Amino acid sequence: MAMAPSKVVVLMAFMAAALSSVSMAAGLQHGFYYSSCPQAEDTVRNVVQGMINNDPTMGAAFVRLFFHDCFVRGCDASILLDPTTSNPQTEKTTIPLRGYDAVNKIKAAVEAVCSRVVSCADILAFAARDSIVASGGFNFHMPSGRLDGFRSIADEVFQGIPSPAFQLQELLDNFATKGLNAEDLVVLSGAHSFGLTHCNFVTPRLYPTVDPTMNATFAAALKKVCPPPRNGGGFISVSNNRVTDPNKLSNQFYHNVASGQVLFTSDQTLMDQTPTTGNKTAAMVTDNAANPIAWMARFAGAMVKMGGIEVLTRTDPGEVRKVCFATNNVG
Ligand code: HEM
Repeated sequence: MAMAPSKVVVLMAFMAAALSSVSMAAGLQHGFYYSSCPQAEDTVRNVVQGMINNDPTMGAAFVRLFFHDCFVRGCDASILLDPTTSNPQTEKTTIPLRGYDAVNKIKAAVEAVCSRVVSCADILAFAARDSIVASGGFNFHMPSGRLDGFRSIADEVFQGIPSPAFQLQELLDNFATKGLNAEDLVVLSGAHSFGLTHCNFVTPRLYPTVDPTMNATFAAALKKVCPPPRNGGGFISVSNNRVTDPNKLSNQFYHNVASGQVLFTSDQTLMDQTPTTGNKTAAMVTDNAANPIAWMARFAGAMVKMGGIEVLTRTDPGEVRKVCFATNNVG
């Protein structure tokens, strides 16, 4: 009997996630809360789904928060900590991200069913996965069992988070420091099929001359939205995907890369070559453009892999926070 396409997506995503040994090696497991808080994952999913129903851009916010959490001192919810008098410079004081209040609301809903059981690091991982379900239409297991860390240091953000001006080799090097490879880079960059950016990240490619790798018609339209930097307007929001539905996570990103219709140098450079990788990433762009189901499975696997970066598990120093914006002993 033929399998419905939606089921195929679930099945392949499960396989990709299962094949990703990183999280398991890191001490995470599927269904970590099945006995300690059986409602945990459903609660996160329901709240996230409601938030995305109210504001379809929120899925992208959760996915990006998870990426930024994992790329700075591992997936330990350090991104969520508010500044304190003793630590006025936490990660969130550097790059503005959306969704902090929303995560605090999800945590409150989880605390209402199980107090002090589910970590904020896991809540963020589940929220990212559930955003993919809601905005991308495919599902997968997200291993859990992360603890929340105690520290958050602004200076570590720019060491960990790649710049949108990066060229391919810089991106490969950055991902390698996190244990991620060229395929992970290409596959996870597909997250730029949805969500928002701001003109200031785009204007360096528009002024004083248009980056020749950008499609000329696309650039002309973008210039109408994003004025030259000297005229202000850097904080104007634009959609990452200006070609199709900007709230849908999909493999459209790869069509946009191939046609020169992406916003960042770091997106377009995936078509470049390096001495070590040759045209490998460009070939992956072409393959992911042609195979949406395979990309979904790869994306699920890569999200699980990213979710295993430098996690704190039960043998590490860490805690389950009562609230996501502060450690239990605020100081
Ligand atoms: C490869 C290196 C990457 C660079 C240089 C990069 C850079 C950026 C930048 C500059 C923005 C716009 C920020 C703003 O204007 O507020 C953005 C948005 C976004 N990025 Fe990335 N990113 C990268 C990788 C990733 C990865 C791995 C993911 C997730 C798997 C991701 C998910 C997103 C999402 C979903 C948004 C939209 C956020 C929103 O709507 O609030 N990015 N990225």
